Amino acid sequence: MRVLVTGGAGFIGSHLADRLLAAGHAVRAFDALDPQVHPDGPPAYLDPGVELVVGDVRDADALDRALDDVDAVVHLAAAVGVGQSMYEIRRYVDVNSVGCAVLLERLVERRDRVRRLVVASSMSIYGEGQYRDPATGESGLAPGLRPEAQLAARRWELERDGRPLAPEPTREDKPLLPTSVYAVTKRDHEELCLSVGEAYGIPTAALRLFNVYGPRQALGNPYTGVAAIFGSRLLNGHAPIAFEDGAQTRDFVHVTDVARAFHLAVESDAAGLVANVCTGRPASVVDIARGLARGLGAEIEPEVAGTYRAGDIRHCIGDPARARAALGFEAEVGLDDGLGALAGWMAEQEAVDRVEDAMEELRRRGLER
Ligand SMILES: NC(=O)c1ccc[n+]([C@@H]2O[C@H](COP(=O)([O-])OP(=O)(O)OC[C@H]3O[C@@H](n4cnc5c(N)ncnc54)[C@H](O)[C@@H]3O)[C@@H](O)[C@H]2O)c1
Repeated sequence: MRVLVTGGAGFIGSHLADRLLAAGHAVRAFDALDPQVHPDGPPAYLDPGVELVVGDVRDADALDRALDDVDAVVHLAAAVGVGQSMYEIRRYVDVNSVGCAVLLERLVERRDRVRRLVVASSMSIYGEGQYRDPATGESGLAPGLRPEAQLAARRWELERDGRPLAPEPTREDKPLLPTSVYAVTKRDHEELCLSVGEAYGIPTAALRLFNVYGPRQALGNPYTGVAAIFGSRLLNGHAPIAFEDGAQTRDFVHVTDVARAFHLAVESDAAGLVANVCTGRPASVVDIARGLARGLGAEIEPEVAGTYRAGDIRHCIGDPARARAALGFEAEVGLDDGLGALAGWMAEQEAVDRVEDAMEELRRRGLER
């Protein structure tokens, strides 16, 4: 197949391109080379076998040219940054929601040829993860954000009638409660692609990626990717900064596993599929900071900020069962191995630490409290 990967010069897109090439597919990457992600222009890591078309997903003519002779489309192009999306609201809606709309308008003109559409969705659309009440045994709970008064009192865990709730694996049928502009636009990505794909008979899948980490993550971009952000701090001799008490948990999935999930989804014809791409295993933010420091040989403990960010969630771990059943996908890279390899790659990079500036922007707007 000839596969068009929008955002194909990015972190996940370039790993997917490598995998698709190795499997014998032709790959065209359509990417605007956003300077926040690519300050030095086209990335050196991009395989020369990838046909790079520089263009913006909001440009219908450029997309039309890029869609020529394409059999499958993977839509990854996006502005990626939760905190930044809360003040660059128009840009995020424009690039993500409008950009997806433009892509779909051009795509439906090619529906006789395009046999597959796969879009990157995100765990951020869940809002808080799924919980159970240990006192009553009730599970499948979908709480909203923690009340402001509770956070102001620095009680971090989710509560119900004053009792703490316990996180459990988040299933795809949990109600969606996006809590940031970025998350709202990722829900748009998913719902726009699935509804248009269904209406026009283009088999479409949306993969809800959890926290993706690994080599090629933009280290100088302070707005996205906690592992990359911590890495850029450590490489500059600074302590990684964890919000709250650092014990909030996420599901960290390695980028090579994520690329494999997309590859499986491209070659599958499951229509209307929505699936988590995750490991099912929790890791705290402090675990990540310590694992990276260990890998880098840096004796630097994370700094626990004790503050919180508007819209932040406490725990979200994915349930991997549906991706296993529908795609045969199982994450293979363990966190220790993955962080060790990431540290090995980071040690060879130069990283500018812009984290303080990004935090100051949040503080100035009252989004960190
Ligand atoms: N990294 C994660 O943890 C994660 C988690 C969930 C979902 N996702 C999603 O996966 C996708 C890829 O993310 P990533 O982590 O590789 O980020 P990335 O920033 O490395 O890649 C995104 C790419 O899109 C390009 N791009 C940005 N604006 C564009 C535009 N207007 N037109 C064309 N290209 C544009 C950028 O230049 C970049 O190369 C995104 O849709 C993101 O929302 C990522």
